Order: sequence, then C-alpha cells, then structure tokens
Amino acid sequence: KRRMPPLGTEHLTARDVARAAELLRAGANVAFPTETVYGLGGLASDDRAVAGIFAAKNRPSFNPLIAHVADLDMLHSIALVDAQAERLAQAFWPGPLTLVLPLRAGAALSPLVSAGLATVAVRMPAHPLARALLAAVAAPVAAPSANPSGKISPTTAAHVLDGLSGRIDAVLDGGPCGVGVESTILGLAPLQLLRAGGLPVEEIEALLGTVVAAPASPTTPSAPTAPGQLASHYAPDAAMRLDAKEAQEDELLLGFGAVAADVNLSPSADLLEAAANLFAAMHQLDDLAAQKGLRKIAVSPIPETGLGRAINDRLRRAAAPRD
Ligand code: TXA
Ligand code: MG
Repeated sequence: KRRMPPLGTEHLTARDVARAAELLRAGANVAFPTETVYGLGGLASDDRAVAGIFAAKNRPSFNPLIAHVADLDMLHSIALVDAQAERLAQAFWPGPLTLVLPLRAGAALSPLVSAGLATVAVRMPAHPLARALLAAVAAPVAAPSANPSGKISPTTAAHVLDGLSGRIDAVLDGGPCGVGVESTILGLAPLQLLRAGGLPVEEIEALLGTVVAAPASPTTPSAPTAPGQLASHYAPDAAMRLDAKEAQEDELLLGFGAVAADVNLSPSADLLEAAANLFAAMHQLDDLAAQKGLRKIAVSPIPETGLGRAINDRLRRAAAPRD
C-alpha cells in the first residue's frame, strides 16, 4: 500500500543514500542528482511509483521515461542488448548517453515506463551519488527530469525543491550537476539520434565509424520535436470511443469509477491507480476484444484534472484516426 501524499520533502545528503534507497524501494518518489540534471525517481517495476512521478510533475501526457541502471546486469534484465548496443555501453557508460532498446519479455518494468511501447530507454548515469543510490536500490529506477511539467530542468537540489517541494518524498542533494543538459538519446534500430544531449554525437560516430541519422521528420507537421512525441505510442488495435456513459452491444467498456466494465481503470475513481493501470488495461482489452471478436472499446468519462489530463491525452491519441 502506498503511503499518504507527502507533507514535506526530506532533504537528504550523501550520507543518507541508504535512506533514499529505502524510500525508493518502498514506492516513494525521490529526486536525485545525475551528471546531466536532477531526476525524479520511482521504482521502475512499481506502477504506482511511476504514476506518482507523472502526478508530482503534473505532466499532461505519459511520455516514456528513462530507466536508470547501476550495472550491465540490470540493463540485461530489462532490455535486449545486441553487439552494437554492448559496444556503445562499454564505451560511454556510465555517462550521458541513453539507449533505446527492445524491451525484454517478462521484464519487471511498469508499462508506464515504456508508455506501452516495445522499447525501453536505458541509461547508466556517472554521478557518484546516482551510482551509489542505484546500487543500493538494486533495481532499475525510472526518472524524468525533476521539474514541474513545462519548467526547465533542475541542476541543483534547490531548483528541485523550488518546483516540487511537498509533491515528492525526498531530494538527495549532490550539489550542482556537472553536465547540465539532458543525456543524448540514441535509437538503435535504426541507428538514429533521438535527442541531442550531453554526449556529442560526433563521439558516437567516431566509435561506430558511421554517420548517425538525425530524427526522421515528425509524423504530423505540427508535432513538437520532443522525442517522446515523435515516437509512436501504444494504441490498441480496437477503435476507441471516449466519454461513453455505457458500452453498446458491439463494444467493450473500459471503466472508471463505479461502473460494470470489462476492465476498470479504478473502481474507486482514484486517478493515481487509473494511471498506473492504463497501459496494462489497453493491452488486456485488446486480448479480450480478439477473444470476443469485437472491434470497439468504449471508455468511461475521466475527469480532466491532475493525472486525468495525462490519462485523457493518451486515450485521445489512442482514439485518434489512424491508417
Ligand atoms: O539526462 C537525462 O536523460 C535525464 C536524467 C534524469 O537522466 N532524464 C531525462 O528524462 O531527461 P526525460 O523523461 O525528460 O526524457 C526522456 C526522453 C523523453 O523525451 C522520451 O520521450 C524519450 O526519452 N524516450 C523514453 N523512452 C523512449 C522510447 N522507448 N522510445 C523513444 N523515446 C523514448
Ligand atoms: Mg524533461
């Protein structure tokens, strides 16, 4: 069971790494320093801890997050690593490089981390406190930058507290970040720069002896250039109808609140629980639809507040017409 929402945010320092790790293992949200920017961490296997990250940031959409690992064993436990990925990891980890890799089947990873995609972004940070923390947690930690949505990324613990004090459980203070810009994100199949960042792409090109392609043009001309918005997001095969009071005969119902539904995001209308269940629910409905030979999913109304905005954003994308 998750603790009550935090009243204060614990301010931890280097000698409190064990405390920070204990909080993360218990499902709390803890900000921590990396060499790029401060991340807002949650145990990557814990749906509610990951949903808590989105809630604390007030993020209006569920972009996939980076899973931070302490060592290569942790990498292999969540992703499939080919020779090229292995080579990049050997050359540049720990450091400001994130690799987008195929998700390992059966990995202990919340689908909210990968936004339901078949790939996962992984990085091994170089900051000594981040390394000590991840080793103590002994499991991958999901973390976007530790700032409220729409604000700039924090490079000191004070920045983190300015934006998120009272909304997260703790911040581990490691002083100012050395790199100060987010990690470089590299897609591997095909080889593609998804975000320019702390590791110059020239260094990657020098290692591999090939040119790294810039991101493909956005699928929609108006799409922002953020990688999470360029990447395709998980959508069920069945067509979705939002804001439905009830399901028609040829539809399954994805419920929210006290309704009789085929799958219910949260019978008690708890948005944190609903967010934690979202991607798993869509997969479950696809299976059910295939079983029952149905092609449509009706979705209960979900309030457009707090995490509800992110849930509705994903549902609207999933409901949008597609080829
Ligand atoms: O330096 C950093 O990378 C910092 C520190 C905390 O590690 N983290 C960070 O996370 O910048 P965030 O969430 O702000 O950025 C992660 C980016 C998102 O834009 C997301 O779309 C992209 O990585 N991403 C994550 N998983 C992906 C995937 N499977 N495919 C494509 N892009 C992905
Ligand atoms: Mg960010």
